[in-house]
Amino acid sequence: MTQWQTDSWKNFTIKHLPDYPDQNHLEEVEKTLNNFPPLVFAGEVRSLKRALADVTEGYAFLLQGGDCAESFSEFHADNIRDTFRVILQMAVVLTSGANMPVVKVGRIAGQFAKPRSSPTETIDGVELPSYTGDIINDIRFEKDKRIPDPDRMLKAYSQAASTLNLLRAFADGGYADLRHVQSWNMGFVKSGPQGERYRHLADQIQESLNFMEALGINSNNTPQLRRVKYFTSHEALLLPYEEALTRVDSTSGDIYNTSAHFVWIGDRTRFLDSAHVEFCRGIKNPIGIKCGPSLDPDVLIELLDVLNPSDEAGRITLIARFGHDKVKSYLPKLIRKVQQEGRTVVWSCDPMHGNTIKSSNGIKTRPFDHIIDEVKQNIRIHKSEGSFMGGIHLEMTGQNVTECTGGLDDISEADLSDRYRTHCDPRLNANQAIELAFLIADELKKNGH
Ligand code: PEP
Ligand code: CO
Repeated sequence: MTQWQTDSWKNFTIKHLPDYPDQNHLEEVEKTLNNFPPLVFAGEVRSLKRALADVTEGYAFLLQGGDCAESFSEFHADNIRDTFRVILQMAVVLTSGANMPVVKVGRIAGQFAKPRSSPTETIDGVELPSYTGDIINDIRFEKDKRIPDPDRMLKAYSQAASTLNLLRAFADGGYADLRHVQSWNMGFVKSGPQGERYRHLADQIQESLNFMEALGINSNNTPQLRRVKYFTSHEALLLPYEEALTRVDSTSGDIYNTSAHFVWIGDRTRFLDSAHVEFCRGIKNPIGIKCGPSLDPDVLIELLDVLNPSDEAGRITLIARFGHDKVKSYLPKLIRKVQQEGRTVVWSCDPMHGNTIKSSNGIKTRPFDHIIDEVKQNIRIHKSEGSFMGGIHLEMTGQNVTECTGGLDDISEADLSDRYRTHCDPRLNANQAIELAFLIADELKKNGH
């Protein structure tokens, strides 16, 4: 294998990267980014890897979720808080169901770049380059707005930095104190069908906290009750941005991508000889690999050879995203191959990306029933193969959006246009996310995970 360098990916097959019209401008921006401070620290990344190693042994569960695409226009403290709050609520539900700690990873503070199925988009006979995320071009359907602009990377960095700043404050500054488990049940969830079930669980937790308090254990003397660890992640798609934020850690001498704790390689870029695989090979962060129907089990093993030659636990998370109608035909083969080859991975389930359909009124959506169905099948397939589903990967928001149909609120196709705000794929709203967490918790309990 050739020597890895931060830019050796340029010698490999490059897909889904923008063609910047002005290379000098691009280089200037890369230099500027390269001088900016890291967004995350190597020590935090190592702590996430240890937590994921626990997931591979069945001692913890991975919850990864957030926007499909973060946007400049939806950037607001309330949105960040609401997504964080729903993740905390889901984590409480999952912890109680699976009886194990939940590793919380947001698709946030950097999830800006999108691979698209088609490089162009045609509306009313006009063909323009596709929108590929706010870090690259503008969602408005105008010719000049769709030209990739490197300055957008600086704006994305700045948004990621302030998002992380707020998340760190929420995670450490008292908001995540378990004594607030009741008050997390706010907003529209409270009055919705999930509010009641959550309230009941929160009451039980409150009772346990009161009991512990009587024994002298409280959040003043037990930091675990007061703080949470919250990690960030995104698809490592826009390699000029990822490269500019890749640094040598002064304490270990190792190389880390400091744009997020965890990055993943998308289903469209996880082939052998891919520039994205080459880039990820040299960084020490935990890496996700999206696994869709076109992934050959032998190729998966070759990818693991490249990305994790020493079979380090916690390094690789395989994110299965087949669709409810395909998971049965594809997942077992991958599980068997990984077992035969004795590889250590976290098996996560992304029940979103294989279940996207067009509604009868032409809006992209995902039926909640299909999402549930894929998760349940995933859990059962693992069980019958002598393995286990260790995590879940979701596109979700804390907002009361109407993007996925179904759930206890029974969002119909006609409701979709009411609050359809995503910049890319349809997300679960807070009620749907919490409902899903309860269903997963029940299913994990049933299957003795
Ligand atoms: C995504 O996670 O937003 C995505 C594009 O997924 P995939 O690569 O699995 O299609
Ligand atoms: Co998506």
